[in-house]
Amino acid sequence: MYNEIDLDIIDINSELPAEEPSRQYYFMAKCRRWVKDFEQKNGRFPKACVTTFGCQMNARDSEKLTGILENIGYQVTDSEEADFVIYNTCTVRENANNKVYGRLGYLNAYKKTHPHMKIALCGCMMQEPHVAQRIQKSYPFVDLVFGTHNLYKFPELLASALEADKMVIELWEGTEQIVEELPVERKYTFKSGVNIMFGCNNFCSYCIVPYVRGRERSRSPKDILREVKQLARDGVVEIMLLGQNVNSYGKTLKEPITFAELLTEIEKIDEIKRIRFMTSHPKDLSLELIRVMASSKKICNHLHLPMQSGSSRILEKMNRRYTKEQYLDLAGRLREAIPHLSLTTDIIVGFPGETEEDFEDTMDVVRKVGFDSAFTFIYSKRTGTPAASMEDQIPEEIVKNRFDRLLREVQEISAQRAKRLTGQVRTILVEEVNSHDPSLVTGRLGNNSVVHIPGDASMIGTFVDVTLEECKGFYYYGKPITTA
Ligand code: SAH
Ligand code: SF4
Ligand code: F3S
Repeated sequence: MYNEIDLDIIDINSELPAEEPSRQYYFMAKCRRWVKDFEQKNGRFPKACVTTFGCQMNARDSEKLTGILENIGYQVTDSEEADFVIYNTCTVRENANNKVYGRLGYLNAYKKTHPHMKIALCGCMMQEPHVAQRIQKSYPFVDLVFGTHNLYKFPELLASALEADKMVIELWEGTEQIVEELPVERKYTFKSGVNIMFGCNNFCSYCIVPYVRGRERSRSPKDILREVKQLARDGVVEIMLLGQNVNSYGKTLKEPITFAELLTEIEKIDEIKRIRFMTSHPKDLSLELIRVMASSKKICNHLHLPMQSGSSRILEKMNRRYTKEQYLDLAGRLREAIPHLSLTTDIIVGFPGETEEDFEDTMDVVRKVGFDSAFTFIYSKRTGTPAASMEDQIPEEIVKNRFDRLLREVQEISAQRAKRLTGQVRTILVEEVNSHDPSLVTGRLGNNSVVHIPGDASMIGTFVDVTLEECKGFYYYGKPITTA
Protein backbone atom coordinates (compact mmCIF):
# COMPACT_ATOMS: atom_id res chain seq x y z
CA MET A 1 0.00 0.00 0.00
CA TYR A 2 0.95 3.63 -0.32
CA ASN A 3 2.92 2.98 -3.46
CA GLU A 4 5.84 4.96 -4.90
CA ILE A 5 4.35 8.43 -5.17
CA ASP A 6 4.72 10.78 -2.25
CA LEU A 7 1.16 12.03 -2.03
CA ASP A 8 1.70 13.18 1.54
CA ILE A 9 3.58 16.27 0.37
CA ILE A 10 0.47 17.49 -1.46
CA ASP A 11 -1.41 20.00 0.68
CA ILE A 12 -5.09 19.20 0.23
CA ASN A 13 -6.06 22.48 1.87
CA SER A 14 -4.27 24.43 -0.84
CA GLU A 15 -5.93 25.57 -4.04
CA LEU A 16 -7.09 22.85 -6.44
CA PRO A 17 -4.65 22.69 -9.40
CA ALA A 18 -6.27 23.48 -12.76
CA GLU A 19 -3.79 21.48 -14.85
CA GLU A 20 -3.86 17.73 -15.50
CA PRO A 21 -2.54 15.42 -14.21
CA SER A 22 -1.69 17.59 -11.13
CA ARG A 23 -5.39 17.96 -10.40
CA GLN A 24 -5.75 14.18 -10.19
CA TYR A 25 -2.74 13.89 -7.87
CA TYR A 26 -4.46 16.38 -5.59
CA PHE A 27 -7.54 14.15 -5.47
CA MET A 28 -5.39 11.07 -4.89
CA ALA A 29 -3.96 12.83 -1.84
CA LYS A 30 -7.49 13.60 -0.71
CA CYS A 31 -8.54 9.96 -1.11
CA ARG A 32 -5.44 8.89 0.82
CA ARG A 33 -6.60 10.98 3.75
CA TRP A 34 -9.87 9.05 3.60
CA VAL A 35 -7.99 5.74 3.51
CA LYS A 36 -5.93 6.75 6.56
CA ASP A 37 -9.10 7.55 8.48
CA PHE A 38 -10.53 4.20 7.44
CA GLU A 39 -7.41 2.43 8.69
CA GLN A 40 -7.55 4.19 12.05
CA LYS A 41 -11.19 3.32 12.51
CA ASN A 42 -11.00 -0.29 11.33
CA GLY A 43 -7.43 -1.31 12.09
CA ARG A 44 -6.88 -2.40 8.47
CA PHE A 45 -6.49 -0.94 5.01
CA PRO A 46 -9.59 -0.93 2.80
CA LYS A 47 -9.62 -3.59 0.08
CA ALA A 48 -10.29 -2.88 -3.59
CA CYS A 49 -11.02 -5.20 -6.50
CA VAL A 50 -10.77 -4.26 -10.18
CA THR A 51 -12.53 -6.65 -12.61
CA THR A 52 -11.78 -6.47 -16.34
CA PHE A 53 -14.42 -7.59 -18.85
CA GLY A 54 -12.94 -6.51 -22.18
CA CYS A 55 -10.02 -6.47 -24.57
CA GLN A 56 -6.35 -5.67 -24.03
CA MET A 57 -7.06 -1.95 -24.07
CA ASN A 58 -9.67 -2.45 -21.39
CA ALA A 59 -7.10 -4.49 -19.41
CA ARG A 60 -4.56 -1.70 -19.77
CA ASP A 61 -7.15 0.76 -18.40
CA SER A 62 -7.64 -1.59 -15.45
CA GLU A 63 -3.91 -1.41 -14.72
CA LYS A 64 -4.33 2.36 -14.47
CA LEU A 65 -7.27 2.03 -12.08
CA THR A 66 -5.26 -0.45 -9.99
CA GLY A 67 -2.20 1.84 -9.95
CA ILE A 68 -4.29 4.73 -8.68
CA LEU A 69 -6.01 2.63 -6.01
CA GLU A 70 -2.70 1.23 -4.73
CA ASN A 71 -1.15 4.66 -4.55
CA ILE A 72 -4.09 5.93 -2.59
CA GLY A 73 -3.54 3.12 -0.09
CA TYR A 74 -6.09 0.48 -0.99
CA GLN A 75 -5.05 -3.13 -0.67
CA VAL A 76 -5.84 -4.56 -4.10
CA THR A 77 -7.28 -8.09 -4.12
CA ASP A 78 -8.87 -10.49 -6.64
CA SER A 79 -11.85 -11.09 -4.39
CA GLU A 80 -15.01 -9.09 -4.91
CA GLU A 81 -15.72 -9.30 -1.19
CA ALA A 82 -14.01 -5.93 -0.86
CA ASP A 83 -14.65 -2.38 0.32
CA PHE A 84 -14.46 -1.02 -3.23
CA VAL A 85 -15.30 -3.01 -6.36
CA ILE A 86 -15.00 -1.58 -9.86
CA TYR A 87 -16.18 -3.30 -13.05
CA ASN A 88 -14.33 -2.17 -16.16
CA THR A 89 -16.96 -3.19 -18.69
CA CYS A 90 -17.04 -4.19 -22.37
CA THR A 91 -19.98 -4.00 -24.76
CA VAL A 92 -18.62 -5.47 -27.97
CA ARG A 93 -21.14 -8.32 -27.82
CA GLU A 94 -24.40 -8.69 -25.92
CA ASN A 95 -23.09 -11.46 -23.64
CA ALA A 96 -20.43 -9.08 -22.28
CA ASN A 97 -23.26 -6.84 -21.05
CA ASN A 98 -25.32 -9.70 -19.65
CA LYS A 99 -22.35 -10.84 -17.59
CA VAL A 100 -22.13 -7.43 -15.93
CA TYR A 101 -25.84 -7.25 -15.09
CA GLY A 102 -25.73 -10.79 -13.70
CA ARG A 103 -22.75 -10.12 -11.46
CA LEU A 104 -24.17 -6.85 -10.19
CA GLY A 105 -26.92 -8.93 -8.59
CA TYR A 106 -24.30 -10.79 -6.51
CA LEU A 107 -22.55 -7.56 -5.57
CA ASN A 108 -25.82 -6.11 -4.37
CA ALA A 109 -26.37 -9.11 -2.10
CA TYR A 110 -22.89 -8.65 -0.58
CA LYS A 111 -23.40 -4.92 -0.18
CA LYS A 112 -26.59 -5.51 1.80
CA THR A 113 -24.50 -7.09 4.55
CA HIS A 114 -21.61 -4.62 4.08
CA PRO A 115 -23.37 -1.29 3.59
CA HIS A 116 -20.17 0.81 3.62
CA MET A 117 -19.06 -0.93 0.42
CA LYS A 118 -18.74 1.19 -2.75
CA ILE A 119 -19.49 -0.19 -6.23
CA ALA A 120 -18.24 1.52 -9.39
CA LEU A 121 -18.82 0.86 -13.09
CA CYS A 122 -16.72 2.22 -15.93
CA GLY A 123 -15.60 1.28 -19.45
CA CYS A 124 -17.21 0.91 -22.83
CA MET A 125 -20.66 -0.30 -21.75
CA MET A 126 -21.21 2.87 -19.74
CA GLN A 127 -20.80 4.97 -22.88
CA GLU A 128 -24.12 3.67 -24.18
CA PRO A 129 -26.93 5.99 -23.06
CA HIS A 130 -29.46 3.17 -22.62
CA VAL A 131 -27.06 1.36 -20.28
CA ALA A 132 -26.45 4.39 -18.09
CA GLN A 133 -30.23 4.91 -17.86
CA ARG A 134 -30.82 1.29 -16.88
CA ILE A 135 -28.15 1.46 -14.17
CA GLN A 136 -29.69 4.61 -12.71
CA LYS A 137 -33.16 3.14 -12.74
CA SER A 138 -32.64 -0.48 -11.76
CA TYR A 139 -29.28 -0.62 -9.97
CA PRO A 140 -29.47 2.29 -7.50
CA PHE A 141 -26.96 0.60 -5.18
CA VAL A 142 -24.14 1.49 -7.64
CA ASP A 143 -22.10 4.40 -6.24
CA LEU A 144 -20.04 5.60 -9.20
CA VAL A 145 -20.43 5.49 -12.99
CA PHE A 146 -17.98 6.92 -15.52
CA GLY A 147 -16.90 6.13 -19.07
CA THR A 148 -13.90 5.65 -21.32
CA HIS A 149 -13.14 9.31 -22.07
CA ASN A 150 -12.85 10.49 -18.47
CA LEU A 151 -11.02 7.47 -17.03
CA TYR A 152 -8.08 9.70 -16.14
CA LYS A 153 -10.42 11.59 -13.76
CA PHE A 154 -10.85 8.45 -11.63
CA PRO A 155 -9.20 9.98 -8.51
CA GLU A 156 -11.51 13.00 -8.64
CA LEU A 157 -14.59 10.85 -9.22
CA LEU A 158 -13.60 8.43 -6.46
CA ALA A 159 -13.16 11.35 -4.05
CA SER A 160 -16.74 12.47 -4.81
CA ALA A 161 -18.12 8.95 -4.50
CA LEU A 162 -16.44 8.41 -1.11
CA GLU A 163 -18.24 11.50 0.22
CA ALA A 164 -21.57 11.24 -1.61
CA ASP A 165 -24.56 9.27 -0.43
CA LYS A 166 -26.08 8.93 -3.88
CA MET A 167 -24.84 7.71 -7.26
CA VAL A 168 -22.07 9.86 -8.79
CA ILE A 169 -22.33 9.69 -12.55
CA GLU A 170 -20.14 11.43 -15.11
CA LEU A 171 -20.16 10.46 -18.77
CA TRP A 172 -18.56 12.32 -21.68
CA GLU A 173 -19.48 11.89 -25.31
CA GLY A 174 -15.92 12.27 -26.48
CA THR A 175 -12.62 13.99 -25.83
CA GLU A 176 -9.56 15.32 -27.59
CA GLN A 177 -7.51 14.91 -24.46
CA ILE A 178 -4.93 12.21 -23.83
CA VAL A 179 -3.87 12.25 -20.18
CA GLU A 180 -1.26 9.66 -19.27
CA GLU A 181 1.38 9.96 -16.53
CA LEU A 182 -0.87 8.69 -13.80
CA PRO A 183 0.26 5.68 -11.76
CA VAL A 184 -0.07 2.27 -13.42
CA GLU A 185 0.20 -1.10 -11.68
CA ARG A 186 1.39 -3.59 -14.25
CA LYS A 187 0.08 -7.13 -13.97
CA TYR A 188 3.44 -8.52 -15.13
CA THR A 189 6.85 -7.03 -14.33
CA PHE A 190 8.51 -8.15 -17.57
CA LYS A 191 5.86 -7.36 -20.18
CA SER A 192 3.49 -4.51 -20.73
CA GLY A 193 0.89 -3.08 -23.07
CA VAL A 194 1.47 0.43 -24.40
CA ASN A 195 -1.37 2.46 -25.88
CA ILE A 196 -0.34 4.03 -29.13
CA MET A 197 -3.77 5.21 -30.19
CA PHE A 198 -7.30 5.49 -28.91
CA GLY A 199 -10.68 5.17 -30.61
CA CYS A 200 -11.55 4.01 -34.08
CA ASN A 201 -12.79 5.65 -37.29
CA ASN A 202 -13.63 2.58 -39.28
CA PHE A 203 -17.28 2.11 -38.43
CA CYS A 204 -17.51 -1.53 -39.42
CA SER A 205 -21.30 -1.81 -39.66
CA TYR A 206 -21.66 -4.38 -36.83
CA CYS A 207 -19.29 -2.74 -34.35
CA ILE A 208 -20.02 -0.55 -31.34
CA VAL A 209 -16.39 0.36 -30.59
CA PRO A 210 -16.29 3.67 -32.57
CA TYR A 211 -19.37 4.83 -30.66
CA VAL A 212 -18.03 4.02 -27.21
CA ARG A 213 -14.33 4.77 -27.71
CA GLY A 214 -14.71 7.84 -29.92
CA ARG A 215 -12.65 9.04 -32.88
CA GLU A 216 -9.16 7.82 -33.62
CA ARG A 217 -6.40 9.71 -31.78
CA SER A 218 -2.73 8.77 -32.03
CA ARG A 219 -0.30 9.45 -29.21
CA SER A 220 2.82 11.32 -30.23
CA PRO A 221 5.81 9.08 -31.01
CA LYS A 222 7.82 11.07 -28.46
CA ASP A 223 5.42 10.15 -25.64
CA ILE A 224 5.26 6.52 -26.73
CA LEU A 225 9.06 6.20 -26.91
CA ARG A 226 9.43 7.88 -23.52
CA GLU A 227 7.00 5.38 -22.01
CA VAL A 228 8.68 2.38 -23.64
CA LYS A 229 12.12 3.54 -22.45
CA GLN A 230 10.78 3.96 -18.93
CA LEU A 231 9.27 0.46 -19.07
CA ALA A 232 12.61 -0.88 -20.31
CA ARG A 233 14.36 0.74 -17.34
CA ASP A 234 11.79 -0.94 -15.07
CA GLY A 235 12.72 -4.37 -16.43
CA VAL A 236 10.15 -4.83 -19.19
CA VAL A 237 11.47 -6.95 -22.09
CA GLU A 238 8.29 -7.48 -24.12
CA ILE A 239 5.83 -4.81 -25.18
CA MET A 240 2.47 -4.99 -26.90
CA LEU A 241 1.52 -1.84 -28.81
CA LEU A 242 -2.22 -1.36 -28.49
CA GLY A 243 -4.82 0.27 -30.74
CA GLN A 244 -8.02 -0.72 -32.53
CA ASN A 245 -6.32 -0.26 -35.86
CA VAL A 246 -2.57 0.12 -35.38
CA ASN A 247 -1.94 0.20 -39.12
CA SER A 248 -3.44 3.65 -39.37
CA TYR A 249 -1.27 4.93 -36.49
CA GLY A 250 0.14 8.42 -36.95
CA LYS A 251 -1.89 9.46 -39.97
CA THR A 252 -3.68 12.25 -38.13
CA LEU A 253 -0.67 13.59 -36.21
CA LYS A 254 0.66 17.09 -36.97
CA GLU A 255 3.88 15.48 -38.11
CA PRO A 256 2.59 12.25 -39.65
CA ILE A 257 4.54 9.06 -39.07
CA THR A 258 3.72 5.54 -40.17
CA PHE A 259 3.24 2.56 -37.88
CA ALA A 260 6.24 0.87 -39.53
CA GLU A 261 8.41 3.91 -38.71
CA LEU A 262 7.26 3.83 -35.10
CA LEU A 263 8.20 0.13 -34.90
CA THR A 264 11.65 0.90 -36.31
CA GLU A 265 12.22 3.49 -33.56
CA ILE A 266 11.08 1.13 -30.83
CA GLU A 267 13.33 -1.62 -32.17
CA LYS A 268 16.33 0.59 -31.31
CA ILE A 269 15.63 0.39 -27.57
CA ASP A 270 18.17 -2.21 -26.43
CA GLU A 271 16.43 -3.72 -23.43
CA ILE A 272 13.21 -4.40 -25.35
CA LYS A 273 13.58 -7.87 -26.83
CA ARG A 274 10.11 -8.62 -28.13
CA ILE A 275 7.60 -6.33 -29.82
CA ARG A 276 3.98 -7.29 -30.41
CA PHE A 277 1.02 -5.27 -31.62
CA MET A 278 -2.78 -5.46 -31.79
CA THR A 279 -4.95 -5.08 -33.87
CA SER A 280 -4.21 -4.82 -37.58
CA HIS A 281 -6.91 -3.94 -40.06
CA PRO A 282 -6.23 -5.67 -43.40
CA LYS A 283 -7.20 -2.60 -45.45
CA ASP A 284 -4.39 -0.53 -43.89
CA LEU A 285 -1.63 -3.11 -43.71
CA SER A 286 1.21 -1.65 -45.77
CA LEU A 287 3.98 -3.34 -47.71
CA GLU A 288 6.33 -1.17 -45.64
CA LEU A 289 5.05 -2.94 -42.51
CA ILE A 290 5.59 -6.36 -44.06
CA ARG A 291 9.18 -5.35 -44.93
CA VAL A 292 9.84 -4.04 -41.43
CA MET A 293 8.40 -7.19 -39.85
CA ALA A 294 10.44 -9.41 -42.14
CA SER A 295 13.74 -7.71 -41.35
CA SER A 296 13.15 -7.13 -37.64
CA LYS A 297 14.89 -9.14 -34.95
CA LYS A 298 12.39 -8.14 -32.30
CA ILE A 299 8.94 -7.98 -33.84
CA CYS A 300 7.31 -11.31 -33.02
CA ASN A 301 6.36 -13.67 -35.83
CA HIS A 302 2.70 -13.33 -34.99
CA LEU A 303 0.10 -11.26 -36.77
CA HIS A 304 -3.51 -11.00 -35.69
CA LEU A 305 -5.37 -10.02 -38.85
CA PRO A 306 -9.14 -10.09 -38.31
CA MET A 307 -10.91 -11.16 -41.50
CA GLN A 308 -14.51 -11.21 -40.12
CA SER A 309 -15.90 -12.95 -43.22
CA GLY A 310 -14.60 -14.67 -46.34
CA SER A 311 -17.43 -13.44 -48.53
CA SER A 312 -16.77 -10.25 -50.51
CA ARG A 313 -20.50 -9.53 -50.50
CA ILE A 314 -20.70 -9.69 -46.69
CA LEU A 315 -17.40 -7.83 -46.27
CA GLU A 316 -18.92 -4.98 -48.24
CA LYS A 317 -22.03 -4.96 -46.05
CA MET A 318 -19.71 -4.99 -43.04
CA ASN A 319 -17.92 -1.91 -44.43
CA ARG A 320 -14.55 -3.66 -44.11
CA ARG A 321 -13.25 -2.22 -47.39
CA TYR A 322 -11.44 -5.30 -48.70
CA THR A 323 -12.52 -8.35 -50.66
CA LYS A 324 -11.98 -12.08 -50.20
CA GLU A 325 -9.30 -11.99 -52.91
CA GLN A 326 -7.48 -9.04 -51.34
CA TYR A 327 -7.43 -10.79 -47.96
CA LEU A 328 -6.08 -14.00 -49.52
CA ASP A 329 -3.46 -12.03 -51.43
CA LEU A 330 -2.34 -10.23 -48.27
CA ALA A 331 -2.15 -13.47 -46.26
CA GLY A 332 -0.08 -15.01 -49.05
CA ARG A 333 2.37 -12.10 -49.15
CA LEU A 334 2.76 -12.18 -45.38
CA ARG A 335 3.45 -15.91 -45.26
CA GLU A 336 5.94 -15.60 -48.08
CA ALA A 337 7.82 -12.63 -46.59
CA ILE A 338 7.91 -13.74 -42.94
CA PRO A 339 9.04 -17.30 -42.29
CA HIS A 340 7.24 -19.16 -39.49
CA LEU A 341 4.63 -16.43 -39.27
CA SER A 342 1.69 -17.34 -37.11
CA LEU A 343 -1.41 -15.82 -38.61
CA THR A 344 -4.48 -15.52 -36.39
CA THR A 345 -7.86 -13.96 -37.00
CA ASP A 346 -11.36 -13.04 -35.85
CA ILE A 347 -14.44 -14.35 -37.67
CA ILE A 348 -18.09 -13.39 -37.25
CA VAL A 349 -20.76 -15.92 -38.16
CA GLY A 350 -24.38 -14.99 -38.90
CA PHE A 351 -24.00 -11.39 -40.04
CA PRO A 352 -27.39 -10.18 -41.44
CA GLY A 353 -28.04 -11.62 -44.89
CA GLU A 354 -25.26 -14.26 -44.68
CA THR A 355 -26.24 -17.11 -47.01
CA GLU A 356 -24.88 -20.65 -47.02
CA GLU A 357 -22.78 -19.62 -50.01
CA ASP A 358 -21.30 -16.65 -48.09
CA PHE A 359 -20.52 -18.96 -45.21
CA GLU A 360 -18.81 -21.42 -47.57
CA ASP A 361 -16.60 -18.52 -48.72
CA THR A 362 -15.55 -18.03 -45.09
CA MET A 363 -14.77 -21.76 -44.78
CA ASP A 364 -12.82 -21.55 -48.02
CA VAL A 365 -10.56 -18.75 -46.75
CA VAL A 366 -10.10 -20.59 -43.46
CA ARG A 367 -8.84 -23.63 -45.39
CA LYS A 368 -6.73 -21.67 -47.86
CA VAL A 369 -4.98 -19.47 -45.29
CA GLY A 370 -4.66 -22.15 -42.62
CA PHE A 371 -4.96 -19.88 -39.59
CA ASP A 372 -2.80 -20.76 -36.62
CA SER A 373 -5.75 -19.86 -34.49
CA ALA A 374 -9.03 -18.00 -34.85
CA PHE A 375 -11.50 -16.38 -32.51
CA THR A 376 -14.96 -17.17 -33.79
CA PHE A 377 -17.95 -15.08 -32.75
CA ILE A 378 -21.67 -15.32 -33.28
CA TYR A 379 -22.91 -12.02 -34.68
CA SER A 380 -24.38 -9.92 -31.92
CA LYS A 381 -26.77 -7.10 -32.67
CA ARG A 382 -25.52 -3.82 -31.20
CA THR A 383 -28.06 -1.03 -30.79
CA GLY A 384 -27.21 2.02 -32.88
CA THR A 385 -24.95 0.27 -35.39
CA PRO A 386 -26.04 0.13 -39.08
CA ALA A 387 -26.15 -3.69 -39.06
CA ALA A 388 -28.70 -3.73 -36.23
CA SER A 389 -31.35 -2.34 -38.56
CA MET A 390 -30.44 -4.48 -41.58
CA GLU A 391 -33.08 -6.87 -42.80
CA ASP A 392 -32.50 -10.59 -42.90
CA GLN A 393 -31.18 -11.20 -39.40
CA ILE A 394 -30.25 -14.90 -39.45
CA PRO A 395 -32.24 -17.40 -37.35
CA GLU A 396 -30.42 -18.73 -34.32
CA GLU A 397 -30.40 -22.44 -35.32
CA ILE A 398 -28.77 -21.68 -38.66
CA VAL A 399 -26.10 -19.50 -37.03
CA LYS A 400 -25.42 -22.10 -34.37
CA ASN A 401 -25.01 -24.81 -37.00
CA ARG A 402 -22.57 -22.68 -39.04
CA PHE A 403 -20.70 -21.66 -35.92
CA ASP A 404 -20.15 -25.30 -34.89
CA ARG A 405 -18.94 -26.26 -38.36
CA LEU A 406 -16.55 -23.31 -38.46
CA LEU A 407 -15.20 -24.01 -35.01
CA ARG A 408 -14.47 -27.65 -35.87
CA GLU A 409 -12.64 -26.64 -39.04
CA VAL A 410 -10.64 -23.91 -37.31
CA GLN A 411 -9.61 -26.20 -34.45
CA GLU A 412 -8.53 -29.00 -36.76
CA ILE A 413 -6.41 -26.69 -38.90
CA SER A 414 -4.77 -24.95 -35.96
CA ALA A 415 -3.94 -28.28 -34.31
CA GLN A 416 -2.28 -29.44 -37.53
CA ARG A 417 -0.29 -26.23 -37.83
CA ALA A 418 0.83 -26.37 -34.22
CA LYS A 419 2.07 -29.96 -34.67
CA ARG A 420 4.57 -28.80 -37.26
CA LEU A 421 6.78 -27.34 -34.53
CA THR A 422 6.95 -30.55 -32.48
CA GLY A 423 10.57 -31.53 -31.83
CA GLN A 424 11.93 -28.09 -32.70
CA VAL A 425 13.94 -25.79 -30.47
CA ARG A 426 12.41 -22.37 -29.79
CA THR A 427 12.70 -19.58 -27.24
CA ILE A 428 10.01 -18.85 -24.69
CA LEU A 429 9.56 -15.96 -22.32
CA VAL A 430 8.49 -17.52 -19.02
CA GLU A 431 5.37 -15.80 -17.68
CA GLU A 432 4.11 -17.65 -14.61
CA VAL A 433 4.05 -20.75 -12.49
CA ASN A 434 1.48 -23.15 -13.94
CA SER A 435 -1.73 -22.77 -11.97
CA HIS A 436 -2.61 -26.50 -12.20
CA ASP A 437 0.82 -28.00 -11.67
CA PRO A 438 3.33 -25.96 -9.61
CA SER A 439 6.26 -28.05 -10.86
CA LEU A 440 5.75 -26.41 -14.27
CA VAL A 441 6.14 -22.87 -15.54
CA THR A 442 4.29 -21.45 -18.51
CA GLY A 443 5.75 -19.25 -21.22
CA ARG A 444 5.07 -18.06 -24.72
CA LEU A 445 6.80 -18.48 -28.03
CA GLY A 446 7.29 -15.48 -30.31
CA ASN A 447 4.27 -16.75 -32.25
CA ASN A 448 2.25 -16.44 -29.04
CA SER A 449 1.71 -20.19 -28.45
CA VAL A 450 1.79 -21.38 -24.87
CA VAL A 451 4.50 -23.81 -23.67
CA HIS A 452 4.70 -25.56 -20.29
CA ILE A 453 8.14 -26.64 -19.04
CA PRO A 454 9.51 -27.93 -15.73
CA GLY A 455 10.73 -25.00 -13.65
CA ASP A 456 10.10 -22.62 -10.80
CA ALA A 457 9.18 -19.03 -10.04
CA SER A 458 12.79 -17.85 -10.35
CA MET A 459 12.49 -18.29 -14.13
CA ILE A 460 9.63 -15.81 -14.51
CA GLY A 461 10.57 -13.00 -16.90
CA THR A 462 13.52 -14.87 -18.42
CA PHE A 463 14.00 -16.23 -21.92
CA VAL A 464 14.58 -19.98 -22.07
CA ASP A 465 15.46 -22.12 -25.09
CA VAL A 466 13.23 -25.17 -25.09
CA THR A 467 12.59 -28.30 -27.11
CA LEU A 468 8.90 -28.56 -27.96
CA GLU A 469 8.39 -32.19 -27.02
CA GLU A 470 4.67 -32.71 -27.23
CA CYS A 471 1.94 -30.72 -28.97
CA LYS A 472 -1.46 -30.73 -27.29
CA GLY A 473 -3.44 -28.98 -29.98
CA PHE A 474 -2.96 -25.36 -29.10
CA TYR A 475 -0.20 -25.64 -26.48
CA TYR A 476 3.00 -27.61 -25.94
CA TYR A 477 4.93 -29.43 -23.28
CA GLY A 478 8.62 -28.66 -23.57
CA LYS A 479 11.98 -29.12 -21.90
CA PRO A 480 14.67 -26.50 -21.34
CA ILE A 481 17.85 -27.01 -23.35
CA THR A 482 20.72 -27.42 -20.96
CA THR A 483 23.99 -25.94 -22.12
CA ALA A 484 27.11 -27.78 -21.06
N1 SAH B 1 -10.38 -3.37 -33.85
C1 SAH B 1 -10.32 -4.73 -33.99
C2 SAH B 1 -11.36 -5.55 -33.28
C3 SAH B 1 -12.02 -5.09 -32.05
S1 SAH B 1 -13.40 -6.02 -31.51
C4 SAH B 1 -10.41 -5.04 -35.47
O1 SAH B 1 -11.01 -4.34 -36.22
O2 SAH B 1 -9.93 -6.06 -35.84
C5 SAH B 1 -12.80 -7.68 -31.54
C6 SAH B 1 -13.60 -8.59 -32.39
O3 SAH B 1 -14.91 -8.70 -31.92
C7 SAH B 1 -13.76 -8.15 -33.83
O4 SAH B 1 -12.65 -8.45 -34.61
C8 SAH B 1 -14.98 -8.91 -34.27
O5 SAH B 1 -14.65 -10.16 -34.80
C9 SAH B 1 -15.75 -9.10 -32.98
N2 SAH B 1 -16.97 -8.29 -32.97
C10 SAH B 1 -17.07 -6.95 -32.98
N3 SAH B 1 -18.36 -6.58 -33.01
C11 SAH B 1 -19.09 -7.72 -33.01
C12 SAH B 1 -20.49 -8.01 -33.04
N4 SAH B 1 -21.39 -7.05 -33.09
N5 SAH B 1 -20.87 -9.31 -33.02
C13 SAH B 1 -19.96 -10.31 -32.99
N6 SAH B 1 -18.65 -10.09 -32.96
C14 SAH B 1 -18.20 -8.82 -32.98
FE1 SF4 C 1 -14.75 -2.20 -34.64
FE2 SF4 C 1 -14.02 -2.21 -37.16
FE3 SF4 C 1 -13.00 -0.39 -35.51
FE4 SF4 C 1 -12.29 -2.91 -35.27
S1 SF4 C 1 -11.87 -1.60 -37.00
S2 SF4 C 1 -12.89 -1.55 -33.63
S3 SF4 C 1 -14.13 -4.03 -35.80
S4 SF4 C 1 -15.12 -0.57 -36.15
FE1 F3S D 1 -14.90 -4.26 -25.42
FE2 F3S D 1 -14.41 -1.72 -25.38
FE3 F3S D 1 -12.48 -3.42 -25.90
S1 F3S D 1 -16.22 -2.66 -26.19
S2 F3S D 1 -13.53 -5.07 -26.90
S3 F3S D 1 -13.57 -3.26 -24.02
S4 F3S D 1 -12.71 -1.39 -26.77
